[in-house]
Amino acid sequence: MKILVTGSNGQLGSELINRLNDSEKKQGNLPVSLINSEVLGVDVDFLDITDEVKVRELLLNGRFDCIINCAAFTNVDKAEESIEQATAVNTTAPGFLARVAAETGAKFVHISTDYVFSGEGDTPFKENDPGSPNTVYGKTKLTGEELVSSNNPDSLIVRSAWLYGYRGKNFVKTIVNLAKERDTLTVVDDQFGNPTNAADLAQRILMLISIGANGIYHCTNSGICSWYEFAKEIVGLSKLNTKVVPCTTEEFPRPAKRPKFSALDNSKLEKAVGIKMRSWQEAIKEYLENADRFTD
Ligand SMILES: NC(=O)c1ccc[n+]([C@@H]2O[C@H](COP(=O)([O-])OP(=O)(O)OC[C@H]3O[C@@H](n4cnc5c(N)ncnc54)[C@H](OP(=O)(O)O)[C@@H]3O)[C@@H](O)[C@H]2O)c1
Repeated sequence: MKILVTGSNGQLGSELINRLNDSEKKQGNLPVSLINSEVLGVDVDFLDITDEVKVRELLLNGRFDCIINCAAFTNVDKAEESIEQATAVNTTAPGFLARVAAETGAKFVHISTDYVFSGEGDTPFKENDPGSPNTVYGKTKLTGEELVSSNNPDSLIVRSAWLYGYRGKNFVKTIVNLAKERDTLTVVDDQFGNPTNAADLAQRILMLISIGANGIYHCTNSGICSWYEFAKEIVGLSKLNTKVVPCTTEEFPRPAKRPKFSALDNSKLEKAVGIKMRSWQEAIKEYLENADRFTD
């Protein structure tokens, strides 16, 4: 199978490339149907996904069997003031990619987010629960999903949450770095979700591709926590003595209004692939044991 991964320098894109490369294949981490895959990873410097001429040229010439779109405008606060750019990257471009993928006969895989939900309630969201985002980021991702589905009904859309990988910036690295400098960290304790290791998400995306899945799937590590609980676990596992103190959303205002509760229900995914997602505690433990792999 010939696979194109966009946004390949990002947290998820780089994990997908790692998993599809030779050394990972030898470890038997890939579904059998993907073992001899040829993978091309591209990021914004090579393929800006908003450049329709270049996208069409690459997709027509590349003869890909599968396109996994990991490129996104992911700065949630910045999106509030960059609506046009966030819309171009998170809505228009995925819709165009999906359409051209359909024209070329390639499977299209798109990644989305828990932020498509407003975050009211206390029950994990299922795939068909209606989206009602509070933020520009969430709105552009939801309209992106809708455009992808209408332009290419065979697309696979995987929603995840609170992602951390070895490459790029994320909450885990921020907490580790701050905890090395400060005696006390104050972290929001009234927003709940599912921390998710990008490597676990990458593995499940490849499994879904291998079984020919389409439609929307939720994929996060299992279990729910607040950012405060997550930070406490990170500091404890990193053997740092920093005190972690809970605070409310009101005490830590941000430009984009975060969902209070945006946990996702993984049962559709777990039934489809026959394996449960490991807990967020197991996933963060393994991640921090390999902190020497951190890159900016
Ligand atoms: N991060 C999370 O907590 C989270 C949670 C749920 C879902 N998701 C979704 O998961 C997917 C992957 O997220 P991630 O955390 O891996 O994101 P990421 O680390 O920010 O990676 C996104 C990549 O896309 C690139 N990019 C931005 N604009 C582009 C453009 N116009 N053309 C091509 N590439 C472009 C970025 O380059 P630059 O860095 O140079 O901008 C970056 O390398 C996204 O769809 C995101 O919405 C993320």
